[in-house]
Amino acid sequence: MPRSTWRHVGRFLGVALPVLAAVLPVGASARGDAPALVKGPWTAVTADTAVISFEVSRPVSGLIEYGPADMGLTASLPFKVGGGIHHIPLADLLPGATYVYSIEIGSGERSPPGYFHTPPEGFTPFLFLVYGDTRTFYARHHMVARRMAAEEASFVVHTGDLVTSPISREWNEFFASARELLLAMSFFPVIGNHERNHFSYYRLFELPGAGGKAGEQWWTFRWGDVLFVGLDSNTQFLGVTGLREETEWLKGILSQEARFKFVFFHHPLFSSDPHYGGNEGLAKLWHPIFRDKGVTAVFCGHVHAYEHIVRDGVHYFTTGGGGAPAYPLGEPVEGTLFAAEGILHYLRVSVEENAVQVEMIPVAKVPLGEEEGEIIPLGGEPLEVFRIEAGIPAAVP
Ligand SMILES: [Fe+2]
Repeated sequence: MPRSTWRHVGRFLGVALPVLAAVLPVGASARGDAPALVKGPWTAVTADTAVISFEVSRPVSGLIEYGPADMGLTASLPFKVGGGIHHIPLADLLPGATYVYSIEIGSGERSPPGYFHTPPEGFTPFLFLVYGDTRTFYARHHMVARRMAAEEASFVVHTGDLVTSPISREWNEFFASARELLLAMSFFPVIGNHERNHFSYYRLFELPGAGGKAGEQWWTFRWGDVLFVGLDSNTQFLGVTGLREETEWLKGILSQEARFKFVFFHHPLFSSDPHYGGNEGLAKLWHPIFRDKGVTAVFCGHVHAYEHIVRDGVHYFTTGGGGAPAYPLGEPVEGTLFAAEGILHYLRVSVEENAVQVEMIPVAKVPLGEEEGEIIPLGGEPLEVFRIEAGIPAAVP
């Protein structure tokens, strides 16, 4: 969907889109009351359903107005909810479409317009984004998220460690700094160690096809004939039984036919970070499954740097450049193709009929260390561009 059309939709709402976003921050009220909408909206989608999520500070009644972006807000769904986090499904959506939506609460309080895409029925080329480790330096996260929001992507996957700790103030910082991105596309996170398996994570996100704790610890969806799988790699919280259950589920899910298979979780199996060094136990358990089930690429976070490693034809990408403190990597490990440190970044993944292109998009250069320091914005020229051709085993250097 071209941006010009989206701006047209913004005008449909009564004012040009950028102006609307500027004058009506999240939860702004025309009556001057304290805003009821304190978080969101954000979305997740399945085959024909989108879930609109938001948090309100008090009981409210309102409307979700929505419709295909080229037609405007043609439908509406009324709701009446108590204070707290809510997930409202919109059903019977068109496949392969871009939708616009807005939440109206009470008299006059309205969210800026948000967008989500629905998966196509067959194959259509598409883009998705991946990033992770957005904790601690939320102003840095905002730089990355704002850049990502301008991408014509179908959705974004977050590889975990959204927040430093799962407390209300931190979640507020995360949602404020991710605001433009969450309005631009659907959001699928996997859980990091910093979320501490806390109930707040499970309350905030409604994820498709999911299982495990609260039915949300691992998830899967298909985008046309392409398979996406999100896992929990926090073995300390899973325990032996949880890890066994998840791994059995994983084997079954990856057995299905798909044009490409993408897997996401927090802790990289392999890493040049000398302090972390990868996860040998999970590597023994999961790498043979990824190799034997034809997984195209695995995306992780946890290490606050970028690394691309190939093992037995499986591409492993570590993307932990969403804002968290940066630090240096050590000597490259077996299979490392490319690594970069001290660079805020995200990944742009273009899915074509017979190939997948992964681009590492730099946003800014940041000092290595826990302290604030000079941040040098970088242009969007990718630091690494890598094409994975379907059916051709990856060359190991
Ligand atoms: Fe982590």
